[in-house]
Amino acid sequence: MELLEAALRARANAHAPYSGFKVGAALRCPDGRVYAGCNVENVAYPQGTCAEAGAIAAMVADGRREIAEVLVVADSPVPVTPCGGCRQKLAEFASPAAPVILAGLGGELARTTVGALLPGAFAPAHLEGAAP
Ligand code: THU
Repeated sequence: MELLEAALRARANAHAPYSGFKVGAALRCPDGRVYAGCNVENVAYPQGTCAEAGAIAAMVADGRREIAEVLVVADSPVPVTPCGGCRQKLAEFASPAAPVILAGLGGELARTTVGALLPGAFAPAHLEGAAP
C-alpha cells in the first residue's frame, strides 16, 4: 500500500498536457526507502520522460542503486506496463526477479517481474572485452 500511495501522490503532479495520460511510479529499495516519480511531458514530444525514469532519478540522486520492487499506476482498466526504454532502465538497478506491480487507481491489477518484462536484457556482461 505504501508503494501505491507514493505512486498516486506523484501521479497527481504528472505533467501530461499532450497525452492527458498521467502515470505514477514508485520504487522500493532493499533498505525500505521509497522513491516516486511521474511522467513529465514536453511540447517537443520526444523530450518527455516517463514516471519510472523520474523515480529512478530520485533514487540515484539520493544515493541508492538497488531496486527491490516497482509499482506503476495509471487510470486504465488494462494494466499499464513500463515502456521498452523504462524496462531497460529498471534492469540497470533491479534483479530479474524483482516484482513489478501494475496498478489502476483502485489498486493492484497485475504482477510481473523485471526479467519477464525484458528477457535478454542488454547487460554489463555484453560490454566485457570492449575497449574503454
Ligand atoms: N508513460 C509513463 O510515464 N510510463 C509508462 O509506463 C508508460 C507511459 C507516459 C509517457 C507519456 O507521458 C504518457 O505516458 C503517454 O504515453
